[in-house]
Amino acid sequence: MAPSNHEHTGLRRLNLPLPAQAALIHLMAWGGSLGLVLVAQHLQFSVTGFGLLLLQGALAGALSLLLGLPGWWLAINFGFFPLIGLALQLELDPAWYLLALGALLLTQFGALHSRVPLYLSSRQAKRELARVLPAQSGLRLLDIGSGTGALLAYLARVRPDLQLAGIESAPLLWLVSRLRLGQRAQVKFGDFRHLDLAHFDVVYAFLSPAPMARLWDKVRREMRPGSLFISNSFGVPGVAPDAVVELDDLNRGRLLIWRLT
Ligand SMILES: C[S@@+](CC[C@H](N)C(=O)[O-])C[C@H]1O[C@@H](n2cnc3c(N)ncnc32)[C@H](O)[C@@H]1O
Repeated sequence: MAPSNHEHTGLRRLNLPLPAQAALIHLMAWGGSLGLVLVAQHLQFSVTGFGLLLLQGALAGALSLLLGLPGWWLAINFGFFPLIGLALQLELDPAWYLLALGALLLTQFGALHSRVPLYLSSRQAKRELARVLPAQSGLRLLDIGSGTGALLAYLARVRPDLQLAGIESAPLLWLVSRLRLGQRAQVKFGDFRHLDLAHFDVVYAFLSPAPMARLWDKVRREMRPGSLFISNSFGVPGVAPDAVVELDDLNRGRLLIWRLT
């Protein structure tokens, strides 16, 4: 699920990044749950190890709700320690954890520094994007954070006249998109923050709220007048788009369109 635009609430006012807020919440939840277990023992109730983890999860979830963290952090904070407890009970070979970490790094590498994980543009987003693109043949379109290349593959099918490009920082996703797209699109491995946007008539982004302000500065500096910047769902703080296309998809997303002047 894509993160929402409403991240700046609750503990956010302390100006701490979300992972630091989550760490604080877990500390408080551990304090609370251990206190409750002591009270329970005093009252002759016994609490199992897994019961303690569930209690901690419930307190962490409740604190996340009270402090206004985004919904997906609420789920993470609720499930974090109970899931660790469950995984330990499965007694899996540690190599599986190493494998899972490797797969995560290979597919979510960009999320580590730019806080943009992988999720894909919906069918409606792809269709509407193709619909709003100018009819001009040979238009150069860049998908920044091109993921598995699904969006570019779609555009290559419905608009074979476009010159398509992508850039992706997660190694496995980049490889998948290269193999998938072949000559139909040029997909670079790297960080979009270091790519010059001046070469493109249209830049499409489906990222997260985190990079939008800086990305907008880059767009303004580099993109030529008349070119289009299109963001799926994530707005630019304080800058209204020139057009909005509502998407009837699961995320209730929107295409936000700016024409550079
Ligand atoms: C939400 S996905 C969008 C995928 C695709 N554009 C689509 O719309 O279906 C965002 C992608 O951006 C990549 N990404 C994150 N930060 C990046 C960066 N700084 N440079 C390049 N890619 C990045 C992530 O690895 C992820 O694959």
